[in-house]
This record gives sequence, C-alpha cells and structure tokens, in this order.
Amino acid sequence: MKALIAAGGRGSRLRPLTHTAAKQLIPVANKPILYYGLEDIAKAGIKNVGMIVGKETIDDIKRSVGDGKKWGLNIKYIYQEEPLGLAHCIKIARNYLKDEPFIMYLGDNILTTDLSKFIGEFKRSDANALVLLAEVDNPEQFGVAQLDDNDNITRLVEKPKTPPTNFALVGVYLFDKNIFKAVNNIKPSFRNELEITDAIQWLIDNGYKILPHKVSGWWKDTGKVEDVLEANRFILSSLKASKGKGLMIDSYSKIKGKVILQRNVRIENSVIRGPAIIGEKTKITNSYIGPYTSIYFGCEILNSEIENSIIMENTKIIDLPSRLDNSIIGKEVEISKNIKKPNAINLILGDRSKIRMHKNPSKGRSI
Ligand code: DAU
Repeated sequence: MKALIAAGGRGSRLRPLTHTAAKQLIPVANKPILYYGLEDIAKAGIKNVGMIVGKETIDDIKRSVGDGKKWGLNIKYIYQEEPLGLAHCIKIARNYLKDEPFIMYLGDNILTTDLSKFIGEFKRSDANALVLLAEVDNPEQFGVAQLDDNDNITRLVEKPKTPPTNFALVGVYLFDKNIFKAVNNIKPSFRNELEITDAIQWLIDNGYKILPHKVSGWWKDTGKVEDVLEANRFILSSLKASKGKGLMIDSYSKIKGKVILQRNVRIENSVIRGPAIIGEKTKITNSYIGPYTSIYFGCEILNSEIENSIIMENTKIIDLPSRLDNSIIGKEVEISKNIKKPNAINLILGDRSKIRMHKNPSKGRSI
C-alpha cells in the first residue's frame, strides 16, 4: 500500500509564519508537524509515499524531508500548481498511486493512533473507503459526518454553518481505486476546491461502501495558532525527561518536572519548569522557562521569562520586560530591550505579524 500526503496549500490561517515557511514544518515539541505523520506511516510498514507540495511549500519540504530515507521511506514529490482541494490532490496523484488501495494523510494533522489497525481493518473488509471520525467542540471548522442508527455515514458536509453532528472527519483516509471515479465526477465547491467530503459523498450516493471508524485517541489539525500551541502542550506532556550530550547546567540553575534538554544546551542561573523542551545549542541565562514551552535549536534566552510558547530556531530573546505567554515566535527573530534614547519601542515586523502589549509592561504577564 502507498501513502499520499497532502502538504501543499497556503497556510493562510498561520500567517505570518507561513510567509516564509511551510506550515507543515512548524515545530511542535521541537519536531516539524509533518514528521509525526511520516513516522506514523513508516511505523505502519508503508514504504512508498507520494507527497503533494505546492509553490509555497515545495522548497522547504524538499529541503527538510528529502527522499525520506531517514524514515526508511521512498518519497516522490507531486507538484500541485494551485491548492485546488484535497480531492484535486488525489486526481493529480493518479499516475503515482495506480490501482492499489492507498492511505491519504493530511500533512498538518497529528494523531496518536496506530495506523496499522485501520489499514488491517480496511484490507479485511469489502469497503471502498475507511474514514476516521473524532468528536470535536467546533465541528463547523471541519468536514462533518451525519450517521444513521447503525453508525453508517449518510451525509458529509465541509465546514457547515449548522453542523448536523459533532463528528469531524480526521485527516486520514483509506481509499480503493473507486475514489478516482469520485474525484472525476464532482464539481468545485463555493471556495473553488474539489472537496474530499464531496468525493466521499459521491461514493456513498453511488452505492460504494464507506467504513467509519471513531477514534478515541488524541488528534489535532494544526491549522491555527491555538491548535499548534495545544498540540505542543499535548506532545510535551507525553514525552519523557531526557538529557542530551554536551549539556552544561550551572549550580545556580534548577530543572524541575519533565524537561528534555537536547545536545549542547547551556543553562546558567535559570529555572526550567517542565513539561518543556530545549533544543540543541540553545543557551538560557538568568531566565525562567515555564511549562509547555518548546525552544528550538540555536536560540539565546537572556534575562527573560517564557511560558506556554513555541520559539523557533536561532531566535534571540533578551531582557524581555514581562513574561511571554501563549506565543509562537518564528525563526531568527530578535527581541531585545532598547537601551538608547528616546525611550521608545523599535519594531521591524513582517507582513501580518501580531503583537499584543500591555500599557504598563511591568504590571502585565504577557506582551
Ligand atoms: O484536518 C481535518 C480536516 O482537513 C477535515 O475535517 C476536512 O474535511 C478537510 O477538508 C480538511 O480541512 P482543512 O481546511 O483543515 O484542510 P487544509 O486546507 O488545511 O488542508 C489540509 C492539508 O492538505 C494541509 O497540509 C495542506 C494540504 N493541501 C490542502 C489543499 C486544499 C494540499 O496539499 N492541497 C490542497 O489543495
């Protein structure tokens, strides 16, 4: 069985981070989101992966993932000129997938469910598709399934204003070759996309069998900032404390709770309270790093307090006037105190950056 990963798209809900990087590569607990899916696919014994990439993601993803050898995978890239929908991804992958059944995995999803269980179930059944469903509080932001008394899917709707149920479609699907008939017979939706929900609905309407599976494990679509931070909290809580080689922690520092210190981390006169992860060659001095914080590699944190945040690679945070909370800071960012007159804030921000400041930073807890 082959896998098809959808890692194109625009990532508009995660701007400005996605102006300069693919959303699928945002690090969650110091690992790019897409790597979680690649690991799941490799663990399920799949070797051949078709990776859909678009103009905003192709360079980044090729550079980071390459040919897939580090996961024991053989990755072939399939270029999608425009993000014309998930059913469009299947359409353009036809030549790669051929007639074999395949698993489709959305590159911005993270799951804690063993895929081989579903693959086995699909192979043993006579179903034409298997879909995963999860109960969510905000079904209007997903594809939503309506089920009959026997838990058969009767209807699927994409991001409905008034959802018929709170069962969302998880971004992992198994299909046999009949899905190609479906994607060739549907029309673009109001947002000009060939919707995966419409393709599955076509299968239902034309008498094909769909096997729904309710997932009990944790699942996250990391489409928005709050979702990325929630995924970070969840993954950090599930990791074990560890210490990499070349670590330097001075006697004034305290490491409390579950903390992962990667290689060559330096900690001086600081408190790190887990769950937290500190990346390779990062230096923390006179600072407090609180729970649910991931600091990626090559960062420098000096005289600052950070909690419940993601700091990406090679970023410097120096003399922060109040605690940074609930934030995602991109790569190679520099935040520091202005010591020159006039006593003003100097900002060099990319398009669509977001900054929230307190009137009096010394009284506030976050900027
Ligand atoms: O995460 C589950 C949800 O994913 C489902 O409940 C929805 O039914 C399904 O449509 C999808 O909704 P999203 O709005 O979250 O999809 P998004 O546009 O974020 O795309 C998901 C992944 O697929 C992401 O890695 C980008 C990629 N993609 C997306 C489109 C539309 C492509 O590679 N090409 C595309 O044309």
